[in-house]
Amino acid sequence: MPAELLLISDLDNTLLGDAEALDRFGRHFAALHERVAIVYASGRFFESIRKDVETTSLPAPLAVIGGVGSEIRSFPGGQLNVTWAERISNNWSAEQVQSVLADEGRLELQPKHSQSAFKVSYFLPGASPDELDDLQAKLRAAGLQTSLIYSSERDLDFLPRGANKGTAAAFVASQLGFAHDRVLVAGDSGNDTKMFEHDFRGIIVSNAHEELKRFADKPRVYLSPDARADGVRDGLTHWMGKLAGD
Ligand code: GLC
Ligand code: MG
Repeated sequence: MPAELLLISDLDNTLLGDAEALDRFGRHFAALHERVAIVYASGRFFESIRKDVETTSLPAPLAVIGGVGSEIRSFPGGQLNVTWAERISNNWSAEQVQSVLADEGRLELQPKHSQSAFKVSYFLPGASPDELDDLQAKLRAAGLQTSLIYSSERDLDFLPRGANKGTAAAFVASQLGFAHDRVLVAGDSGNDTKMFEHDFRGIIVSNAHEELKRFADKPRVYLSPDARADGVRDGLTHWMGKLAGD
């Protein structure tokens, strides 16, 4: 029987971060006997996520959205979704983004394993909205159209315009044949916000940052009283109950 629902979940501080809660989630998920399909959407890249799946009780996903939506790969094979890569590759150059921002003293480049041809990431603690606007304006003035994503009051990502976890989630849902009202998304921070702009059913874990909690009073968004994987498990139960009544 095909799965009724697709859960697209963030990892760090959403499903991950509390091993016992993840064990509870893993057991709950297994007991659903494939009624729910799962895909991960992370700021990290495929290999690091594959390691998590191998070493924790994270269920094996159908696919992995990595690098904040800048790449989509099959699981466990890791084949790159070329259609997505082509769709986001126009008018974008990671080298140019870095060179335009090279003299920005407050920006600290994240380690190499966090960078890719389609993602340039910095640390920038406590940035104000104005500071972020100025950075994007500077890139625009240099002819670069980027999508800027700020998370956890620290992580600053530049991706090709139109690439984020939300657009990637919509792409994966449509490839897997799930209508948006059968898709649940779960997250805790800024890079998850775009997943809450697509008419999916949202789950916000209780430990989420304010930047995502602002979405809690939107329709179709559930703020769990529980943290991390317990919150995702609670959100899944919440939405399965509601959808069964539809
Ligand atoms: C993950 C990535 C990092 C990114 C952050 C927020 O931690 O490793 O590069 O900045 O997510 O998107
Ligand atoms: Mg997270």
